[in-house]
Amino acid sequence: MPNRWRREIANVLISEERIARRVRSLAKEIARDFAGRDLVIVSLLNGTVMFLGDLIRHLSLPLRLDFIGVSSYGSDTKSGALIFTKELRLDVRGRDVLLVDDILDTGKTLTKVLEKLRPLRPRRIKVCVLLEKKARRTAPARADYVGFQIPDKFVVGYGLDFAERYRNLPFIGVLRPEIYEGT
Ligand code: PRP
Repeated sequence: MPNRWRREIANVLISEERIARRVRSLAKEIARDFAGRDLVIVSLLNGTVMFLGDLIRHLSLPLRLDFIGVSSYGSDTKSGALIFTKELRLDVRGRDVLLVDDILDTGKTLTKVLEKLRPLRPRRIKVCVLLEKKARRTAPARADYVGFQIPDKFVVGYGLDFAERYRNLPFIGVLRPEIYEGT
């Protein structure tokens, strides 16, 4: 890990190379499952920024892309109330939707977003997340494609933030507790 991050990041949980390999294999699987379909990718802002970019560059099939902005309120580590900051613009009726998020944690975000998407009558909705933390699930949400199962640690990097920082790390790292404690 670069020296710059040592005081804030305890360790690298998933390296840049492992992420790259896994994202390529997820893309292959998704391309197979959606071949010949009218695919709309709906990506959740802001955490998917890196994952989405890498995933779609390896998806060699026609697709449309749109975003939903959703954020748990505040900068703390607990999932609080959800606010929608950007609504879907594309028509998904009768289409195959791949919903992309960076992490499936309590499941509240996914549950709310699926409640919004289902009434728009897509043909089917599949969910793809880079990371899944099974330990903290409180809402009955599940993903069809999961990059990595991870332990219940505060992770940042590769799009994931703490108080909007660390999204630019090329790896997934574990944040030192002293950074987020007391927030
Ligand atoms: C994070 C993450 C997921 C969600 C997962 O979003 O990007 O969307 O929390 O948590 P849950 O399963 O407990 O709902 P956040 O609200 O931090 O916004 P961000 O994507 O802008 O970082």
